Amino acid sequence: MNKQILVTRSSMPPFDEYVEEIRPLWESHWLTNAGVEHEKFRSGLGEYLGVGENVELFVNGHLALECALKALELGADGRDEVITTSYTFASTTNAIVRCGLKPVFVDVKPDDLTIDPALVEAAITSRTCAILGVHVYGNLCDVDAIQRMASAHELKVVYDAAHAFGVRKGNAAAASFGDASMLSLHATKVFHSVEGGAVCFRDSAVRDRLRAWRNFGINPKTGEVECAGGNAKLDEFRAAMGVVNLRHVDDWIADRARAEARYRERLEGAQGVRLFEPTPEVSLNHIYMPVLFNPDKFGATRNDVLEALAAHGIRARRYFYPLTSDFPCYRGVFNPGDIPIAREASVRVLTLPLYEGLSNEDVDMICDVVLGCMR
Ligand SMILES: Cc1ncc(COP(=O)(O)O)c(C=O)c1O
Repeated sequence: MNKQILVTRSSMPPFDEYVEEIRPLWESHWLTNAGVEHEKFRSGLGEYLGVGENVELFVNGHLALECALKALELGADGRDEVITTSYTFASTTNAIVRCGLKPVFVDVKPDDLTIDPALVEAAITSRTCAILGVHVYGNLCDVDAIQRMASAHELKVVYDAAHAFGVRKGNAAAASFGDASMLSLHATKVFHSVEGGAVCFRDSAVRDRLRAWRNFGINPKTGEVECAGGNAKLDEFRAAMGVVNLRHVDDWIADRARAEARYRERLEGAQGVRLFEPTPEVSLNHIYMPVLFNPDKFGATRNDVLEALAAHGIRARRYFYPLTSDFPCYRGVFNPGDIPIAREASVRVLTLPLYEGLSNEDVDMICDVVLGCMR
């Protein structure tokens, strides 16, 4: 058996640098609840992302998204429908449902698999309270069209920006779009704090509500429990990992870009193989290497490629499959909608291994297996 290549691998900072960062914790004995590292990470992250002070940290992206939906008070006025897509990770749909809201699924655009604004418009009803778009593989939703519609219909806009750390559109940070954007800082993302998440928000009045939902509902100013919040606080050890990793993330993204360029050299133009292009003006973070296989032209299915890679010890991922509307817990509960493009992508897209440190030789070996499936 060849060596194993996993679909992703966490980037690690220099060990001694992390140890230096956490050493003061042995003096302070302050391990969680907005300590020194937490505040250092929060301000460093806000500066890196270009959102200044308008960012709050969470223990993971999922709870960050739930807290954002709660802090924006979605559903409070009786409108409970959130227009969204099922071409996403379980977290997006689960967050909507766990907040007592109803997902209304529309299709995605064929070019970048993000929510189709024309279909959003058609799905708006008197019960709609928000649009929740997903920046798929770091490619941004059509944020301008979505904002125009939201403003016209008095809807909130929330982005699942789990894939969009550090992505920019022109001079604007991806995290600055919408009323709130959630980032995942999970170990497998381009930038991480082991587990972690963040919400960037437009209106600074949201901050106290985010903090309350994160910390058992306790209003940070009055100390009163004002809502049924849970516990989604980021501890000092993870915050310290974030502080250290911020110093290295640009190098990591550059190295991912190198590996992705190698994939493109090898796969671009192969019959039945489609690579995704960044939308104009958008600078990508090279988080994933999605490839769409058209079985009629390629001569093999996405699953054939997945199996061939597995036989060589290479783990690729069907991401996103199945569509969230097809999960057993949602089937027959929420209307999956008329979503031919999302359906096709979910059975044709494979994300190939991509991480900082993946060598060109490994990329070549992966591409040899992929192209060897072509008939
Ligand atoms: C699109 C999307 N949304 C949400 C999440 C949840 O983020 P986390 O794992 O940090 O909770 C992920 C993470 O994998 C994701 O890919």
